[in-house]
Amino acid sequence: MSKVVVEPCSSFRVKIDSIAPDKSISHRCAMFSMLADGESVIENFLRAEDTMNSLEIVKNLGATVVDDGTIIKISSKGIKECEAILDCGNSGTGMRLFCGLLSSANGHFILTGDKYLCERPMKRVTHPLRSIGAKLDGREDGEFAPLSIRGSSLKAYNYESKIASAQVKSAMILAALSSDGECRYKEPELSRDHTERMLKGMGADISVKGLVTTIKPMKNLLKPLKIRVPADPSSAFFFAVACAITPNAEVVLEGVTFNPTRIEAFKALERMGADITYDLKEDVYEPIGNITVKYAPLKAIVVEDNISWLIDELPALSIAFACANGVSVVKNAEELRVKESDRISSVVDNLAKCGIEVSEVKDGYSVTGGTLKKACVDSFGDHRIAMSFIIAGLKCGMEVSDLDCINTSFPNFFELLSQITTIKR
Ligand code: S3P
Repeated sequence: MSKVVVEPCSSFRVKIDSIAPDKSISHRCAMFSMLADGESVIENFLRAEDTMNSLEIVKNLGATVVDDGTIIKISSKGIKECEAILDCGNSGTGMRLFCGLLSSANGHFILTGDKYLCERPMKRVTHPLRSIGAKLDGREDGEFAPLSIRGSSLKAYNYESKIASAQVKSAMILAALSSDGECRYKEPELSRDHTERMLKGMGADISVKGLVTTIKPMKNLLKPLKIRVPADPSSAFFFAVACAITPNAEVVLEGVTFNPTRIEAFKALERMGADITYDLKEDVYEPIGNITVKYAPLKAIVVEDNISWLIDELPALSIAFACANGVSVVKNAEELRVKESDRISSVVDNLAKCGIEVSEVKDGYSVTGGTLKKACVDSFGDHRIAMSFIIAGLKCGMEVSDLDCINTSFPNFFELLSQITTIKR
């Protein structure tokens, strides 16, 4: 789909029970099943391009995948060398976590991705993995894909990361599971912790104290996963913002993970004045429940702590900033520059086109709340930029182009949006 025109909408009240399943957890379900002794059973796996690519890779690596359209069952007899080039598409999570998983596997593997992924930094995983004996390479000394991996034996490590990144942490945890001793990984700020929760649930010996994760190598294969993937808070958040910028609107978002490392953007929206309540329904691998958002006038905030807990939601949160009273500021967010697009410049360029006063610094930006105006904006090939500016269109109308990227994470986005407004393609 090349472009859409979104019409402004008046108030709405909706309950959404089919937000896209969580992308981070779905990737991990596919990959971690390869470490299990027996059949993993996964309900509500995200059927979007990024995660289906991970599933395809797992198949190429020898897993048996049985998919009845509702439940996916994965069993593996160990990772096998394959002829196929392993294509991660647009997904940094896919590529970085597979680096960790394959570093110790028996064989030679090639990972590649689309033109955006092949320009994203990979030294953050290839170099720490090399430092423990992994044989990884890629263009510019392992910085850019295609990456080649020759599985080898890995040494125990004590590694202190400079980046709060769940992708780097997860790659190193996966490597630690096949290393020759106890490993210790320290991060500067806690990043999302699905890897630790899920692998622990599968019986891995992993303990977390503050910012330090200690991992003992696996003596045996792990227990298979039995999991229903919750709704993705990052996808749900587009509808939270839609509600927060539309007078008298109300939305109930069902079955979302409340993992504290994932719902910080909802907390930020609450600080801005939105009325948000959380109704916990279950707590197995993850706390899961319903989030209700009600409109209230918004005020500006500063966002500078726990940035990795809302890194994926900052583009959508910026639409709320544009509708708030005052100047909102984002600091310590340089990581935004190496996401699916340079999200600092994508957000700033597009908001400026919509008549909003913005300014950009190296590690963040500021947005002066005002009146959003209809404009023609580009997604920069980035799903979260595309969906954020479509949501802005609920306020003022918007033409957004280059939209195929939405299929990487939220294939039913337009179906859900059509409950709220008219979309012309
Ligand atoms: C992810 C971690 C985050 C996030 C990405 C998914 C994950 O990246 O931005 O969308 O599933 O581990 P970093 O960990 O590199 O910040």
